[in-house]
Amino acid sequence: KRLLPMTAALGLILAGCGREDLSVLRPQGPAAESSFALMKLSISIMIVVLLVVFSIAAYVWIRFRRKPDQNEIPKQVEGSFKLEVLWTVIPLILVVVLAVPTVKAVFAAGNDHSDDKDAIKVKVTGHQYWWEFEYTDYGVTTAQDLVIPAGKDIAFELSTKDVLHSFWVPSLSGKMDTNPDGTVNRFSFSAPNEGVYRGKCAELCGPSHGFMEFKVKSVSSTAFEEWLASMKAPDSVLPDDPALAETFKSQCLTCHATGSMQDLSQAPNLTGIGSRESVAGILLNDDTRVDGAPVEENLKTWLHDPQSVKPGNKMPDPKDLGLSDEEIDGIAEFLAGYTLD
Ligand code: CUA
Repeated sequence: KRLLPMTAALGLILAGCGREDLSVLRPQGPAAESSFALMKLSISIMIVVLLVVFSIAAYVWIRFRRKPDQNEIPKQVEGSFKLEVLWTVIPLILVVVLAVPTVKAVFAAGNDHSDDKDAIKVKVTGHQYWWEFEYTDYGVTTAQDLVIPAGKDIAFELSTKDVLHSFWVPSLSGKMDTNPDGTVNRFSFSAPNEGVYRGKCAELCGPSHGFMEFKVKSVSSTAFEEWLASMKAPDSVLPDDPALAETFKSQCLTCHATGSMQDLSQAPNLTGIGSRESVAGILLNDDTRVDGAPVEENLKTWLHDPQSVKPGNKMPDPKDLGLSDEEIDGIAEFLAGYTLD
């Protein structure tokens, strides 16, 4: 009776693993490929060891099993120098075979590419529960959607505003922690193909750790240049309605930045939020967003009760700030229409 739900659950879990944009089994780019190669190496060794051990065990079970008329205890063997040397040396060799490429890959992954002239430098800051991306060479800051040019090396510098988080894009790279003690971690990866890859926080960081998602959008170099240019558009965009614009400025822009405003790194930068892959990292804007509806509905859900979407996040409830339902809807509609280009 329990088999069906269990099989269904396992199917669902495996279906989750099959998502191409969130799978270490479909590596995209050199960093992810090197971890995948290590995985294949260790699993192959494991399979060989299992086969040998089970074959020996099966042989012993059959060859030395008790015969019907056998009543005396067989000869007992205690210790064998030969065997002990053998089963110490073989694992030692296996450990070396695993360790050499692992250590190599770990050092290669941690290589500092910040001096690389061609690498795009991105400062990643973890926040409870969102990601901030600063393109230091371009003076552009954004959140949740990391836009990168396909094929280019991206050199990351990782830190955190609060607690320990871990930056992870399963199909592009390994994980790297953001440390609260002030140390800056560096690593790099590149995405050879254009596409959208899902990223996750991989370190338990509070009640909404599981919702601390982000996206990596790998685009052509022209599209990347265009994106940078539209992010640098000089003016802050405001709602058309003057009263709503005033509310937006006094209530939202005290923590959030838009356009050319100085980023305070307190809350996600809102420039072009309507063009992002998701609202708050988890309320997805799927393909139907050309209608304008889903992103707007998601923004309304978020703004009417941020704590229900991401418990423990630091966004104040707009109602507590004195905003009416109409004002909240108005701001959601404005933000949904705040797209790039
Ligand atoms: Cu941030 Cu888990």
